[in-house]
Amino acid sequence: MSDRTVIPVAGETPYEVTVGRGVLPHLSDALPAAARKVLVVHPPTLAERAEQLRATLCGDREVLLAEVPDAEQGKRVEVAAFCWQIMGQADFTRTDAVVGFGGGAVTDLAGFVAATWLRGVAVVQVPTTVLGMVDAAVGGKTGINTAEGKNLVGAFWPPRAVICDLDLLDSLSANERVAGFAEVVKAGFIWYPEILDLIETDPAAVVDRHSDAFRRCIELAIEMKARVVGEDLREAGLREVLNYGHTLGHAIEHAERYRWRHGAAISIGMMYAAELSRLAGRLSDAAVERHRGILTSLGLPTSYRAGAWPQLLATMQRDKKARGGMLRFIVLDDIAKPTVLQAPDESLLFAAYQEVSQ
Ligand code: GLY
Repeated sequence: MSDRTVIPVAGETPYEVTVGRGVLPHLSDALPAAARKVLVVHPPTLAERAEQLRATLCGDREVLLAEVPDAEQGKRVEVAAFCWQIMGQADFTRTDAVVGFGGGAVTDLAGFVAATWLRGVAVVQVPTTVLGMVDAAVGGKTGINTAEGKNLVGAFWPPRAVICDLDLLDSLSANERVAGFAEVVKAGFIWYPEILDLIETDPAAVVDRHSDAFRRCIELAIEMKARVVGEDLREAGLREVLNYGHTLGHAIEHAERYRWRHGAAISIGMMYAAELSRLAGRLSDAAVERHRGILTSLGLPTSYRAGAWPQLLATMQRDKKARGGMLRFIVLDDIAKPTVLQAPDESLLFAAYQEVSQ
């Protein structure tokens, strides 16, 4: 049997995240017993593995494959319509199920397709990237992009289960793995300082997918996400802490036309949030330097172009308007003590940017 860790996620519809090596075979048991048809949504790079998955899931079920473009290209209404078409032609019923098999964009799309088909069918998420495992696949945020912005259409639709098979990460490049680690570092700063200790002890070991430290960090990050979304699925309060580093990070992703890895932008965003926390009189110099040391030791960026500030500020302001609120940043009062900084002064925002720009 596989060696697995099971992390429960509380809420109206509780579910479990299974983490370990060789845990993919648990997918079959995670699907609803009544499901006669299963749609596996996957990117082209996982076509062969999706075929293998089909072979293991078949039996008394019909398994359909929907190959969709990877990354943000897949999060389009045309791609969702392609999945709905496959489901319609296969007479997919309310008791059937969807599997999201891929990175965060694929699981977001698969979740959205499941949330909208017949007003909602079961989805089991099988993330294949670090980012997908520690963030996108857990917590039930599903959605697609529109021409006006990212994730503007979607639904909160918790999965029935999440299966994180660490063996699936073997095909990721080292760069992809490290970029995904930015969200793990975030979990360390806002919730579990044990992650920070592990990185400081041996940064090379934590990104070595075969090490115990790697697995421990992934599990802690998932546990943090599980606790937060278990308490606040709809982001009415606590869940907002997950946005640490994301306000500026999203603006950088936009400035880079989404060609940067999410983790790289979030890394700079966290460094910025730490500097902002310090300048707002909340966080010590040592804690800010801890950010810089940890992110740098993993090879993640901590600074951005000095001249980009007006554009970044404008994007953050637009984002704020689209979401109907004031400009809000998650900052730290201390390590593992996140809080909200609302409508900070523009001069403070700029001063913090000067600390992370060159
Ligand atoms: N990725 C942030 C959230 O799930 O709320």
